[in-house]
Amino acid sequence: MQARDRSPAAVDWDSVRAQFPVTRDYLYFDLANKCPLPLFSTAALADYVDKQQRSGGDKAEWFATIESARGRFATLINAHPDEIAFTKNTSEGLNIAANCLPLSAGDTVILNQYEHPNNVYCWLNLERRGVRVKWIGGGAAGGATDAGGSATGGGATEGGASTGGGAAEGAGGDGGLVTVDMIDSVADETTKVVAISSTTYAPGTRNDIESIVRYCRDRGIYTVVDAVQSVGTLDVDVKALGMDILCTSAHKSLFCPHGIGVFYARPEVRDLLDPVYVARAGMGMAAQIEYGQISYTLDQSNNAKKFEIGNHNYLGLTVLDASLAYLLALGMPNVEARLIDLNAYLVQRLTGAGYRVVSPADGPWRSAIVCFRARTDAQSARDLHGYLERNGAITTLRRDTIRASLGIYNNESDIDRLVDLLRRYGTESAEPSEAR
Ligand SMILES: Cc1ncc(COP(=O)(O)O)c(C=O)c1O
Repeated sequence: MQARDRSPAAVDWDSVRAQFPVTRDYLYFDLANKCPLPLFSTAALADYVDKQQRSGGDKAEWFATIESARGRFATLINAHPDEIAFTKNTSEGLNIAANCLPLSAGDTVILNQYEHPNNVYCWLNLERRGVRVKWIGGGAAGGATDAGGSATGGGATEGGASTGGGAAEGAGGDGGLVTVDMIDSVADETTKVVAISSTTYAPGTRNDIESIVRYCRDRGIYTVVDAVQSVGTLDVDVKALGMDILCTSAHKSLFCPHGIGVFYARPEVRDLLDPVYVARAGMGMAAQIEYGQISYTLDQSNNAKKFEIGNHNYLGLTVLDASLAYLLALGMPNVEARLIDLNAYLVQRLTGAGYRVVSPADGPWRSAIVCFRARTDAQSARDLHGYLERNGAITTLRRDTIRASLGIYNNESDIDRLVDLLRRYGTESAEPSEAR
């Protein structure tokens, strides 16, 4: 397999930061939730809106932009454009996977307790067809809860379901790494799918997808990867990792408004999938009623477009095309290296200030997400989150931890200012808030 170039030119991160007006007013540590729109995105957005306002827009131009975005996204993850379909979001892609893979009564799907609820419900929904979910850590699904978006997997306890991960000192968990051994302990001849995040939404552990895929491929098990916390922050290479299906959204680290997702399937699996919904755009020989050619042969495209339904989100895809051009110019190996450096600095400063990091603190399992707990059990994460927000530091509360997620606009000074706030938390000088 051809290795991708991993030594692109150095990046001027200050000029990258200048693209993000949010950095003037906020300490923005919330990219794992949603993005602050950068200038390169808003310029594309404004141009689109202006053209549509003045002329109604140009559909031929929009179609060309979609194909450009498709090509750029394929380059981003080292795929072929024919393997890429645009969706609404990650959840839609996961539902396509769940409903189109050839599964029948008696088959099982393996999940783990660190999945986002939307990589749980779509599989639980198959139970009415007799497909069962098996949880790593044992037990039946305990039902996904909504408090901070966490899903519980029955008997699995936080930190009790995984090993390794190099969790930081003082950590409350072990990073939540899902290993091949853990999958092997629940897999049997009924297992047809392992659905897993390449990076968990909390605590941000990067799973060893390559090893998991190798294990699964040898046993005829499909791998469905929720990659929304990896694509755009880490260098994702689908050819190297080998997963069957990957799903992501563009409103986080791909710097788009909400409403754009991407679904990738490797050709051998893509061609097995029969779309649940179909429309003209997904037909190889579409009926051209407008031009007098009326033929309704159900002739699905032999590429991933067969999953695309009706008009696209042209505005969103126009922004995606622009943001992909920007990220590709930076080079994903550069982006990943920068964010892992910032991760290391953040973990070091947090632990130095007495905060308990629960994400992997070193090694290959780190990502652009760092989750931590307050200094003492008496301090609630919710209270700490509110304090940070009132002081202009935007994070999210996830799984009863503070999730600080990093983006290409963050720098060491942001981290120093965040940690200054954290050092003051619980002291008399903490409130009222000072200038942002
Ligand atoms: C890991 C993970 N999967 C899935 C989702 C759901 O994404 P969407 O609402 O874009 O489908 C999220 C959203 O935060 C997430 O973090």
